[in-house]
Amino acid sequence: MATIQWFPGHMAKARREVTEQLKKVDVVFELVDARIPYSSRNPMIDEVIQQKPRVVIFNKKDMANDQEMAKWFAYFKEKGALPVAVDAKHGKGLKGVEVAAIEVTKEKFEREKAKGLKPRAIRAMIVGIPNVGKSTLINKLANRSIAQTGNKPGVTKQQQWIKVGESLQLLDTPGILWPKFEDQQVGIKLSLTGAIKDSIVHLDEVAIYALTFLIKHDYDNLIRHYKIDVPQDAENLKWFDAIGRKRGLLQRGNEVDYEAVIELIINDIRNAKIGSYCFDLYDAMQDEHNDDA
Ligand code: G4P
Repeated sequence: MATIQWFPGHMAKARREVTEQLKKVDVVFELVDARIPYSSRNPMIDEVIQQKPRVVIFNKKDMANDQEMAKWFAYFKEKGALPVAVDAKHGKGLKGVEVAAIEVTKEKFEREKAKGLKPRAIRAMIVGIPNVGKSTLINKLANRSIAQTGNKPGVTKQQQWIKVGESLQLLDTPGILWPKFEDQQVGIKLSLTGAIKDSIVHLDEVAIYALTFLIKHDYDNLIRHYKIDVPQDAENLKWFDAIGRKRGLLQRGNEVDYEAVIELIINDIRNAKIGSYCFDLYDAMQDEHNDDA
């Protein structure tokens, strides 16, 4: 997993570089993690992108919950962006990206045509926080390996246009912006989906958050997955003990190795081994998400 330390200087530079690159494109592809379509956004993204036509690409749809995604789709549509869902890793839904780009730039190109300008390819760039799958998507859209999976804030200097389908040209380097730091809940979700470095948040809190979420929303699957029998209202420690003992995650003296259990739970969720979830629950977040999007 690539990691970046963000400092105010880096953030300002990243923002400046992305703003500069945006001048070259007709449409922005804002990439988010479909499991946390709100929490995986850069906190200043609307200021950075401004009125530029925007397609919000929900990546990693293979690991997300369809019903929640649908609610977030409606949210983004209402904000004037066009949402599409893809699974960049397995190359699913890619055609929808080009179709959406055509749709959101239609008016602009009609205006250009009316002015007598020659038809040309739509120019686009991908923007998003680290680890949402920007490089994977670029490589898949390009049908070859171009973007490095590894991160540098902002965008690098020598850039090229990649031809995508019939009507699209994509910048080969994505704009990398920082995640939301302030909200601890968001930090936990970013960790749970593998977007931020482990050391930034306490992994025990991440595992407890995950467990609480699963007990509430997917209890049957949870006990089936770990082959344990723990009542839904049992306290956290009982869950950790049951999972640890079932999996033989023990220390000397036959004690449960809690660190190992924490790691197991987090990895199982990161890799969608138990189920497909959205941790940004639209209904529950209704009140919050008008503040800072
Ligand atoms: P970035 O450029 O935005 O920083 O992200 P990058 O493409 O490096 O992708 C980050 C991780 O997310 C990679 O996993 C990548 O394989 C995975 N990924 C990207 N898109 C999808 C998707 O649609 N579905 C799923 N399930 N995973 C996706 P990794 O663990 O860092 O590498 P690897 O183990 O896949 O090689």
